[in-house]
Amino acid sequence: MARRPLVVGNWKMNGTAREAAHLARALVDGHPDGAADVAVCPPFPYLAAVAGIVAGTPVALGAQDVSPQASGAHTGEVSAGMLHDVGCRWVIVGHSERRTRLGETDEAVRAKFERARESGLAPIACVGETLEEREAGEAEQVVGRQVDALLADGGAEAVGESVIAYEPVWAIGTGRNAAPEDAQAMHRAVRDRVASRRAAAAESVRILYGGSVNEKNAAELFSMPDIDGGLVGGASLDPDRFIAICRAAGG
Ligand code: 13P
Repeated sequence: MARRPLVVGNWKMNGTAREAAHLARALVDGHPDGAADVAVCPPFPYLAAVAGIVAGTPVALGAQDVSPQASGAHTGEVSAGMLHDVGCRWVIVGHSERRTRLGETDEAVRAKFERARESGLAPIACVGETLEEREAGEAEQVVGRQVDALLADGGAEAVGESVIAYEPVWAIGTGRNAAPEDAQAMHRAVRDRVASRRAAAAESVRILYGGSVNEKNAAELFSMPDIDGGLVGGASLDPDRFIAICRAAGG
């Protein structure tokens, strides 16, 4: 099965309302409507404005996090239904910046993953090892545990229709991307893990690489057979760089 490449811009906690609108307009104007899916994930306060700009264009909208709860007394949280309401199609869950700094557990990530799907959003579940874990030779074990949490209790079918992003923590924002062959090996291991539960899901799940993707390294990373696109941080804040990355993915 040919998996359609996907490139997602994670804007993180950057920019102003004006900059978000400017960036969204530049992507809509410059994005080549080609063979890759493209999405951007602005900060919550800018979602509605960006939704208005990208509506009806090939640029899809996503959020950076979601509550595991459906609604109710959860001050400061944003529900999957609300995200769907404002035009989101995608949502990132389990980003390492939330796992490591905010103590998000595998179980919490799994709950967000399920809630997103129930509300008609496509989750992008992030996994990845720290430098310490890699140096200890535990990278595959750690990522395997994170993937297993998604696959448990019949979750494998859902994973087949979703996206997993492999983002080694040591490569995020450091300018030091994983070597394409090393990333490929981990993507293969993730796909094999999914296959051990459900072969069809392993064929269809898109596995993105994230961590210092830029316009220079994107083509080589995306040429690997199990790398289906990228989750891009810093370089997604510059329209020219992000569009170049989309082009490298075939879009
Ligand atoms: P950078 O591309 O800035 O390394 O960030 C990657 C990332 O965390 C995307 O979610």
